[in-house]
Amino acid sequence: MKVFKELFYKMGRQVPGSKEYTLKAAEMAGLNNLPANSKVLDAGCASGNAAFVLLEKYPIVVAAVDVDANSLKSLEEKAAALNVSDRVSVYNKSMIDLDFESGSFDVIWSEGAIHNVGFYKGISYLKKFLKPGGKVVVSDLTWIKDNPPDEVFWYWKENYPDMTGIQENIKAMEKAGLKSVGHFVIGKDGFWDNYYKLMYTHINYFQQKFVKNSKAQEQLEELQTEINHFVKFGDYYSYVFFIGEK
Ligand SMILES: C[S@@+](CC[C@H](N)C(=O)[O-])C[C@H]1O[C@@H](n2cnc3c(N)ncnc32)[C@H](O)[C@@H]1O
Repeated sequence: MKVFKELFYKMGRQVPGSKEYTLKAAEMAGLNNLPANSKVLDAGCASGNAAFVLLEKYPIVVAAVDVDANSLKSLEEKAAALNVSDRVSVYNKSMIDLDFESGSFDVIWSEGAIHNVGFYKGISYLKKFLKPGGKVVVSDLTWIKDNPPDEVFWYWKENYPDMTGIQENIKAMEKAGLKSVGHFVIGKDGFWDNYYKLMYTHINYFQQKFVKNSKAQEQLEELQTEINHFVKFGDYYSYVFFIGEK
């Protein structure tokens, strides 16, 4: 297994954010007004960080979609442990290759995953599964300040080539046929508290574990470089939640 994957499984969280940010987005999207058994499609759910926050707070059911079978297995185990298996179904499929009925979901949710298929492409595709008036909630890595220094601009150009600014993502959402309902930028706590601090500890652990594996060391170095960029340039980019309505 690639050391990246193993490290993220161990971390348990694969994207910056927090329970509080997920709930803030849910409130903005009006999940509190939804009747019981409303349907949420979580696209790129991984092992279900966001899904379990939503399931705990709202009487919803979740269709959890991811291309990674191991993450889905872990999600199913957690669902069983939390006694919510009857409210979760998993689909080991790409979020742009689904065969749900059109107009069958109240909410499409996707934290830190839409870039895998492209922000506009993903939203345009997923939108068809929403009921009229349904909401889309996506978080994506986004420039939040103009004129980033070359060093960080080119770093993300190479590692996250489609990254744009807030207004570009709002326009993409509107072009996909959704009304923009709101957006917010997560704070640095969302990067440090649940993500980079954990990652840092795990990098150290894996550096020892794979001490003779130069490929693994290279990958761990890449993660350390990402953290270093955030330390230096974390004012320029963040995850931004975008909320749209069909
Ligand atoms: C950063 S993680 C998402 C974290 C997750 N949303 C959460 O709440 O913790 C990105 C996920 O997207 C998944 N992924 C990548 N390409 C995908 C695709 N085409 N369709 C569905 N999932 C995809 C990866 O397997 C990974 O689990």
